[in-house]
Amino acid sequence: MEERNIVLIGFMGSGKSSVARLLGQQLKREVISSDEWIVDQEQCPIAEIFRNKGEAYFRQLEKKAIAAIAQKQGIIIDCGGGVVLQQENIDILKKNGLLIYLAATVEFLYSQIQANKDRPLLNVADPLTQMKQLLEQRESQYEQADIKIDSTDKSIDWIAQEIVKRIK
Ligand code: S3P
Repeated sequence: MEERNIVLIGFMGSGKSSVARLLGQQLKREVISSDEWIVDQEQCPIAEIFRNKGEAYFRQLEKKAIAAIAQKQGIIIDCGGGVVLQQENIDILKKNGLLIYLAATVEFLYSQIQANKDRPLLNVADPLTQMKQLLEQRESQYEQADIKIDSTDKSIDWIAQEIVKRIK
């Protein structure tokens, strides 16, 4: 049987991309990020896609990205935080993947995204309140993961090790 994909889901700032890269090195597996896939396809940064075409258009691209990436076997998939908004994405990813939810407190997530202005959904007057609302809306979607790991105050190394332990 082919190896299942390892699929990282969770809110912006939970460490998905850094953990995915480290796991890729440690497990010698290919890593694909849905955001990078979209940027490559569109030849346009995420923030510009949101600005020029809007969120609904971005979500369509995200759905196409997930459908294409989930065809692969034995890879690590780094999902944008909003991938779980469309149930179909979760269903496709679950078919041949183990979904891992990197959960964290909103305060920790906020501290992680401060320096990075690349996230159009948080480009608002009060990002913390916005994050609380989005997290609340998405929580039940993230909870559909097979494995949940609390990444609050944890290092990327610790999270990667924990994943390796728990997928055995
Ligand atoms: C989004 C998360 C981002 C990116 C886009 C929308 C979201 O990815 O896909 O800005 O809706 O949570 P990261 O979770 O990798 O920051």
